[in-house]
Amino acid sequence: MCGIVGYYGYRDCSDVLVDALSKLEYRGYDSAGIAVFEDGNIKIAKSKGRLSDLVKKMEKTGKPKGIAGIGHTRWATHGEPSDINSHPHCGKNVTIVHNGIIENYRKLKDYLISQGKTFVSDTDTEVVAQLLDFYYCRHSDPVKAIIETTEDLEGSFALAIMFNDYPEYIFALRRESPLIVGVGENESFIASDVPAILKYTKNYYLLEHNEIAVLGRYGAKIYDLHYQKLQKELKTADWDMDAAEKCGYEHFMIKEINEQPTSVKTTVLPRIKDGMPTLEECGIDDSFLCGIRQIHIVACGTAMHAGVVGKYAIEKLARVPVNVEIASEFRYKSPILDKSDLVIIISQSGETADSLAALKLAKSLGAKTLGIVNVKGSSIAREAEKLIYTLAGPEIAVASTKAYMVQLSVMYLFAFRLAFAKGKISQSECENYIKLLNEIPDKISEVIENQLENSQYIASKLINSDSLLYIGRGLDYALSMEGSLKLKEISYIHSEAYAAGELKHGTISLVTEGMPVIAVATQDDLFDKTISNIKEVKARGATTIVVLKDGVELPSDVADYIISLPKTIDLLMPMIACVPLQLMAYYSALLRGNDVDKPRNLAKSVTVE
Ligand code: F6R
Repeated sequence: MCGIVGYYGYRDCSDVLVDALSKLEYRGYDSAGIAVFEDGNIKIAKSKGRLSDLVKKMEKTGKPKGIAGIGHTRWATHGEPSDINSHPHCGKNVTIVHNGIIENYRKLKDYLISQGKTFVSDTDTEVVAQLLDFYYCRHSDPVKAIIETTEDLEGSFALAIMFNDYPEYIFALRRESPLIVGVGENESFIASDVPAILKYTKNYYLLEHNEIAVLGRYGAKIYDLHYQKLQKELKTADWDMDAAEKCGYEHFMIKEINEQPTSVKTTVLPRIKDGMPTLEECGIDDSFLCGIRQIHIVACGTAMHAGVVGKYAIEKLARVPVNVEIASEFRYKSPILDKSDLVIIISQSGETADSLAALKLAKSLGAKTLGIVNVKGSSIAREAEKLIYTLAGPEIAVASTKAYMVQLSVMYLFAFRLAFAKGKISQSECENYIKLLNEIPDKISEVIENQLENSQYIASKLINSDSLLYIGRGLDYALSMEGSLKLKEISYIHSEAYAAGELKHGTISLVTEGMPVIAVATQDDLFDKTISNIKEVKARGATTIVVLKDGVELPSDVADYIISLPKTIDLLMPMIACVPLQLMAYYSALLRGNDVDKPRNLAKSVTVE
């Protein structure tokens, strides 16, 4: 939530800041702003709306000119999106941008008002600017002012800071909210995430909690809160620049849907040795797996939906009981855990506040923990005892697609190895599962090729509906949850996912003439039951879209539209069947004229509760 950037170097700073912010817009996009030292004075440009609105504004007013500055793209928490609430915010001597939440801002604001400070915005950020100013007036030393300010602040946050008296420097601080320092030739950067700097450098320092960065002519220096200079390990991003560009696609979402076959291969192949799944490089050996009596998969949104598929796979193959929990519920419900429980946290960003809190809680209660995370070095990746990286590369579209796909891949790898370790499947059965998993990327490509137009056509039939249902049984139900979320978050059409057999216990009353019902029916043993449920909605006027395997016979008058998919075993069908659901969501949003990659009210990295 919110993206922050900073730059000191030799290029046109406004251009660098705008370019870097464009790579972080997935973090929030209801307003944007930059501040640049121009001839020794801080010049600010900011605007409600997208980054493109800021650029248009600067085309009229002129962009700030200089070589040092900071920038921000916002997802509002305190105060509505408006020009005034947009960052940067200022004190008399200080200008800042901020990502995160200052939990005690009310108390601090009251104190600062009592000290004669005045406020113009509703933001918690302005409180930090005024507090920094307060301490700067006391010390005349920027780093000391930052240290004292930090001691007063509660919450998680990252800041980029300019002091009027120090036009040769940019300062930054991290507590919890992610922040990196990019290191180029004669230039350095601050950013909330790696894609922002990839165009300029792949080298960066990952700031730890309570570390302060100072960018200047000599490069970047990093200090702790005792004002001690730190020697940090320089990391190199293994993502190339294309990862953060659309590369000819109209949207990141469709690019990322197309990247799924590669993402699955990249994630799965390194975890296969001699035809068997191996997680030993992630610190997970068979003795660890054998010690697990119960599993809790905890996550939010799409990542949680991947966990629901994981539950079916683990319970079916390994016969280990699995609870799937929404992280924001889990963290406040006094979970019952002990050392034989494994808590798996799934997260693309690795920064989701509720998932991180759930992980910390699970650790404090003595459970084993495993993170399944996409972003390297993220908070969840560092906090979890065991870690499996999904290797999807950066996911920029707010609606998750390839991250979900690789989360499923890891769930299967884990289920196969756990079942083998527990003696529930033989080596040859396990090898066969791996062989079938290896075939999935080609089948995903086949679906993208063969179902693109069909999905687009079906989407054109959905877009005028007020509401629709996704139904399925077993794994088809698990997948329906994700299909429904995908559609509603970007097309803004209401939808619900329902276990097909549960409809008649109330929800079927919603079905009226023409209501679209998307029925996922890929599971052989449940097929006839699902068909009966489709007939029930059809008899009440529903327009039915049936997703099924190639070659499966469908009774006449059941489906208005059919999506037919390449076969694999039922267990792996969610990896194939999710693709047309993603495509239908994508085209529904596109046809309704929505901003596909940046849907309203959302942001990708949800670092607030
Ligand atoms: C939906 C979506 C969200 C995320 C959720 C968790 O497309 O992307 O539902 O899945 O906010 O985010 P991570 O995986 O970063 O913890």
